[in-house]
Amino acid sequence: MEEKISLSVSVASGVESVTKKELKRLGYGEPAAIRGTITFDGEWRDIARLNVFLRTADRVSLSLREFPARTFDELFDGIRSVAWEEVLKKDARVIVDGKSYQSKLFALSACQKIAKKAIAERMKEKCGLRVLPETGEEVRVNFRIERDVAKILLDTTGTGLHKRGYRDRVGVAPIRENLAAAMVLLSDYYAGRPFADLFCGSGTVAIEAAMLACGIAPGLNRRFAFEAFPFYDESYLLSVREEAKSGEKRGMHAAIFASDLDGGAVEMAKRHARRAGVEKEIRFAVKDAADFRSEEKNGVIVTNPPYGERVLDEKSAHALIRTLGGVYGQLDNWSLFAISRDAAFEKAFGRKADKTRKLYNSDKECRFYEYFSKRERNNGR
Ligand SMILES: C[S@@+](CC[C@H](N)C(=O)[O-])C[C@H]1O[C@@H](n2cnc3c(N)ncnc32)[C@H](O)[C@@H]1O
Repeated sequence: MEEKISLSVSVASGVESVTKKELKRLGYGEPAAIRGTITFDGEWRDIARLNVFLRTADRVSLSLREFPARTFDELFDGIRSVAWEEVLKKDARVIVDGKSYQSKLFALSACQKIAKKAIAERMKEKCGLRVLPETGEEVRVNFRIERDVAKILLDTTGTGLHKRGYRDRVGVAPIRENLAAAMVLLSDYYAGRPFADLFCGSGTVAIEAAMLACGIAPGLNRRFAFEAFPFYDESYLLSVREEAKSGEKRGMHAAIFASDLDGGAVEMAKRHARRAGVEKEIRFAVKDAADFRSEEKNGVIVTNPPYGERVLDEKSAHALIRTLGGVYGQLDNWSLFAISRDAAFEKAFGRKADKTRKLYNSDKECRFYEYFSKRERNNGR
């Protein structure tokens, strides 16, 4: 039987419920989320599978050890007892980071130094080295101390999971790819349902919707930290990539429309869509959001309008949101989902949202305003 390992998925605050649904769909049951971390047992292949398939998570870690840590000595001994020589290459550049909640050990920089020292001492002793070269790949080790119990995690992701690889140009105020995916999943979009982003910028929201519609795994074309681990079997990643490829459903008539007033942004969005392999699924246009009309019914707008402070001044941003409210009012039974940092969004839009939730874009607090279609409201959404 396969050896069980403990896995930990970290996720931005506000997105936990969406990631939990993704995990359930991938066959990992319904593990609880505590402070942005979802922990459950898995097998070695799951490290590759979670990294390749999860659309909304930040990173995937391997939990190496859990032990009581009420003193610095206990923390040092616990970390030193991990077989680091089996986990790290001799030349690894170890970066240690951590958090502490309701615990006696709360001085994070001191804990960080102790953790780093414990790893270095173990490596030097077991590898017969006087000095560690630290010239190789960067490896991130994380500690979480909660109620005096330390958990030691090894990051398997490397560059955060939001980096899919398709976005190689920087637009104005782009949204993180995994947050865009969470917005799309929260909107209940499915392939074939009319979908529009009227402020598409570099294309992120529409591209994530198209990848979802086509079943394209977000991590299919990128590298991960675990690929450099000395103990990792590369056949797992190969088989996961095959699994992902066989799940793709091209030509789904995704019915996605993406527009922006800025022609340069639309060109960039097209480029990103091409790189993501979904250019055929999205109809792009250079267009003022004010001019959007659709004869279709039951569609959904998922969008990230200008915030005021970064793209437009506050007055113009409010005028634009008012216009968006007017455009939405003319559509037949559509729903609309918009992320904004603007506390006066609902007032400018002209209607109170059916639901709002707090989300974070690159650590900045935002609100996600959810306006359901009449049909959705009647069905008790
Ligand atoms: C916050 S950015 C969107 C970023 C996008 N979600 C991304 O990931 O790149 C807002 C976008 O709204 C566009 N915009 C501003 N006024 C507009 C208008 N009246 N109609 C359509 N787009 C507009 C800007 O050009 C900008 O690209």
